[in-house]
Amino acid sequence: MINLTIDGKKYQAEEGQTILEVANRHGIFIPTLCVDEAVSAYGACRLCMVEIERKGRKKLVASCLYEVEEGLAVSTQNERIANIRKTVIELLLARCPQSEGVQAMAKKLGVTCSRFESEKPENLCTLCALCTRVCSEVVGKSAISLVSRGTSREVALPYYEDKTDCIACGSCAYICPTGAIKMEDGNGMRTITWPNCQVSFNLSAVPSAAPN
Ligand code: FES
Repeated sequence: MINLTIDGKKYQAEEGQTILEVANRHGIFIPTLCVDEAVSAYGACRLCMVEIERKGRKKLVASCLYEVEEGLAVSTQNERIANIRKTVIELLLARCPQSEGVQAMAKKLGVTCSRFESEKPENLCTLCALCTRVCSEVVGKSAISLVSRGTSREVALPYYEDKTDCIACGSCAYICPTGAIKMEDGNGMRTITWPNCQVSFNLSAVPSAAPN
């Protein structure tokens, strides 16, 4: 077992557990917008930043990715962390002002508006990559990926090709926390709409349910 402290309290954890997993297990709140136990951690949203101290040195780490170590001292709340979370949620609010998930998290963190301007107010995608991870890790496909860089980064067919690996299972739509991906069945067809593209399949040829 590994001994560590979180917010000054002693805890034990198993080797390989992340700080977030240990905190969740003990009911310690760390905000997150890109984790789901169905897929591996990716570190996209940066809301889960905490401060760690080892051998007298402090640094900020993403708690969803950082594995516990013997003697680690973790702070989940202080002014530095609060400022970072505030900036991150303001950036997310500017990116996705209409996302209910982002709005709810902002409210939880006491943030009501963003200092940053929104370039695409209708955008719902936070780039959490839950959809691309479920597609590759659970479904075993690579139908969608994060493409491009900077403010142009988006979920799209890999390399913007017009052919796709998609089997229309709908896992990406099920896991999407913001409603940015839509799946509709009608007239014998299933249509999946990602932020910048769409595919349609004959319903008789698609899996009956998304994998759990
Ligand atoms: Fe760690 Fe999103 S939960 S980066």
